[in-house]
Amino acid sequence: MAKMTVLQYPDERLRKVAQKIEKVDDNIRSVIDDMFETMYEEQGVGLAATQVDIHKRLFVADCSEDQNEPMVFINPEITEAEGHFKNDEGCLSFPGVYAKVERAEKITVTALDKNGERFSRSAEGLLAICIQHEIDHLNGKLFVDYLSPLKRERIRKKLEKEQRLAEKYATEAH
Ligand code: NI
Repeated sequence: MAKMTVLQYPDERLRKVAQKIEKVDDNIRSVIDDMFETMYEEQGVGLAATQVDIHKRLFVADCSEDQNEPMVFINPEITEAEGHFKNDEGCLSFPGVYAKVERAEKITVTALDKNGERFSRSAEGLLAICIQHEIDHLNGKLFVDYLSPLKRERIRKKLEKEQRLAEKYATEAH
């Protein structure tokens, strides 16, 4: 297993629309293992393939308190959604940024698991938010797209500044 690099906003590759996975094979399972390692190490609750520059319809998640309920969703689709729910969201592509986003409160999602078997499950609360957030990633959509242009611009400037600083320190350390 190997830890992957998570793309940081405003990297344009986060805007790519992911392609359907035709076959769930060992290659895909190896990507899944690396994505879990990356997500747990970065202390995220979800990670979409798009965020590690792999433009396939796949995400991993673990919204449990003890981080011991790994879930894989391949070619996920929301088939039912009801209610509204507004909650703080963060994202591994936006370190240190949190913002309130309105989502459906309850959803039903169908997807393939890591063996290529189709499943369907209902979700609410944090898991429902996470699934909607990750499916957005696969469509090149980001949680800041729900905010006002002004707020989004402020977040972009903050992250670009932090990235410049990080690059500067990395260069000086060499
Ligand atoms: Ni995210």
